[in-house]
Amino acid sequence: MINVAIEAAREAGKFLKYSVGKVRTIEVKEGEERNLVSEIDKGSEERIISLIKRHYPTHGILAEESGGSHPDADYKWIIDPLDGTTNFLHGLPVFSVTIGIEHRGEIIAGVVYDPNQDVLYTAEKGSGAYMNGRRMKVSATGKLIDSLLMTGFPYDIAGNPEHAVEHFVDFLMEAGGIRRFGSAAIDLCYVAAGRLDGFWEVNLNPWDMAAGILLVTEAGGRVSGFDGARLNLYGKKLVASNGMIHDAMVSVLAKQRRGETGGIK
Ligand code: IPD
Ligand code: CA
Ligand code: CA
Repeated sequence: MINVAIEAAREAGKFLKYSVGKVRTIEVKEGEERNLVSEIDKGSEERIISLIKRHYPTHGILAEESGGSHPDADYKWIIDPLDGTTNFLHGLPVFSVTIGIEHRGEIIAGVVYDPNQDVLYTAEKGSGAYMNGRRMKVSATGKLIDSLLMTGFPYDIAGNPEHAVEHFVDFLMEAGGIRRFGSAAIDLCYVAAGRLDGFWEVNLNPWDMAAGILLVTEAGGRVSGFDGARLNLYGKKLVASNGMIHDAMVSVLAKQRRGETGGIK
């Protein structure tokens, strides 16, 4: 199955890279004025799904643009055909294709392909995480003040969901540095690769994180909800880290609940 995911991600990624600057129709997704989609997101998804269906016609699919099929199947392919649509539409070369494979509720394989760097990230449950075939390991940073963190802003940031703005301010005050690149899947690969020490974001969808969370855990890191408890893939909130700074990140996110937030000194 992972070989099919790799083939699909590579083929879709090549299509995305070739399509930069050639978009014909940009639509706004229903009720979300910042959430854009073009025929390229859809074309990428069609390529991925047709390959999967050719090999595994009875498997379930959960894909961002076309939704789901076979919801009760044991295996579910969770697909984001273009993670980083805003970047893509601006010609900013930070976007990816990401495919996770879930078996009875557990992610067993994940693939992220970054076509701009021609880098393939892969993981299978229990077998480690790899970047172009080289084993990855999370960083060893132990303190938040030494850490480089990544986050993302949801399309509905104007509504400040889950106090996203205050969390950002709180991390700005406590981390060594913060970045926002615009592809959650790549962000998670960078945590797995030890380039970043941690990542958090609210309002993520399962297709944004399915592959990336396995890459992080297989590289020795930790993933959870904002409260530090077991991650729910469908629960919208994710903290991913090298493990060493995880409790500190969860504690920053808890400030809001303790009423200590918005710490601009
Ligand atoms: C988005 C990207 C971005 C994150 C957003 C996602 P899309 O996915 O992953 O980094 O901040 O929350 O929705 O819409 O480009 O597939
Ligand atoms: Ca996405
Ligand atoms: Ca997408």
